[in-house]
Amino acid sequence: MRDADTVLANVRRGMLPAHIYNDDEVFAAERERLFTRAWVFVAHESEIPQVGDYVVRKVMDNSFIISRDQSGEIHAMFNMCLHRGMQVCRAEQGNASHFRCPYHGWSYRNDGQLAGLPFHKEAYGGEEGFARKQQRLIPAPNVDTYNGLIFVSLDPDAPSLPDYLGDFAFYLDYYTKQSPSGVEVLGPQRWRIKANWKIGAENFAGDMYHTPHTHTSVVEIGLFREPKAAKRKEGCTYWAGRGGGTTYKLPPGTLEERLRYVGYPDEMIERMKEQWSQDQLDVIGRDGFMVSAASVFPNLSLVHNWPKVAEGGDADDDAVLPFISLRQWQPIGPGETEVLSWFVVDKEAPEEFKKLSYKAYVMCFGSSGMFEQDDVENWVSLTTTAGGTMARDLLLHGRMGLLEDDSPVVEPLKPDQFAGPGEARVGYAEHNQRALMNEWADHLDGGVRA
Ligand code: FES
Ligand SMILES: [Fe+2]
Repeated sequence: MRDADTVLANVRRGMLPAHIYNDDEVFAAERERLFTRAWVFVAHESEIPQVGDYVVRKVMDNSFIISRDQSGEIHAMFNMCLHRGMQVCRAEQGNASHFRCPYHGWSYRNDGQLAGLPFHKEAYGGEEGFARKQQRLIPAPNVDTYNGLIFVSLDPDAPSLPDYLGDFAFYLDYYTKQSPSGVEVLGPQRWRIKANWKIGAENFAGDMYHTPHTHTSVVEIGLFREPKAAKRKEGCTYWAGRGGGTTYKLPPGTLEERLRYVGYPDEMIERMKEQWSQDQLDVIGRDGFMVSAASVFPNLSLVHNWPKVAEGGDADDDAVLPFISLRQWQPIGPGETEVLSWFVVDKEAPEEFKKLSYKAYVMCFGSSGMFEQDDVENWVSLTTTAGGTMARDLLLHGRMGLLEDDSPVVEPLKPDQFAGPGEARVGYAEHNQRALMNEWADHLDGGVRA
């Protein structure tokens, strides 16, 4: 990285050195300093509902088996054999009571404990010479869940997950706790894009500004009820704890009318009313904002939207239906990211709703999604250009919403205008992207974890 102090100082004042989006040294610093510390999303509990279920996921380049053991407890185990380092589990998901290493055949229980090794007696002197009991796949230093979302931190001294998420948990509930049963997820679809991982995280955190331009065609073909993508500027962005997101402004009406407007059936609305706090309900029913895209630092994003899934008039609420997607920007290299995209739906939602919501998701996001394709075209191009030598001298402008003297263009909403925690503002701004990149700078500044 060219003079790390200058790079971080520029990021903190909202001027982004272009090369941070495609630079080997920056990527190495992220690998050593950021992904060894932050809480990183790895899976949702509904992906491993039964005893023995597992998925294999990564935190940066570290592979983990996320398993549910015979007693139902969840584990995240470093997927590297204690013998000579082979990857113990090579399937992406499945159900197993044991994992057997393909190299020499050591086998481990699904809680990580070494169970057996070939020729234990002849080669190791049996239990006396080499006790299996003391051997287990290395557990991730920290594992915790929120609404079934499983997070891992490689830092033994990490703050607790609730402290890390902070007030962003308030907003996570809209996506992942619409009823007492929570959500189930489908996926992930996985694909690789030649783009830096930070671009997607920043975009989902707060980029309402790109919607009218990048996604014009999606609106023009009538996928949305609103005739103008510029409607986005009436929404607000919010930042709380270690995450932030965007909202749409809803038309006047009661809580129920507004939830119906985005396509929720009455039985789901009744459960939301039971499930969410008065403040959570007030953001929608009193203040008229509905969450859309969001990101949690570093690389988890969410999206909630309500496209037209059926032909209908402009005012026809029956024509739109909401979907939720969860996605992870899994870094592969400075110029490459693996995208993991899940469809998310309330477990208690009616079957017909689940079916149509899935249809809405595949139209908009995922490998077939129209938004996805619009976005990625920009991000790949940006990343390619950021890798060139000229980009090293360019500071990108990330100060939208700030005047020259750092005072805000628009003041934050007051508690009687926005019931949610954190700071929310109406209109286009880059406060959220700056908040995300400030976290990034703080992590890179923190030194290499011993
Ligand atoms: S490397 Fe796993 S058994 Fe030898
Ligand atoms: Fe987009």
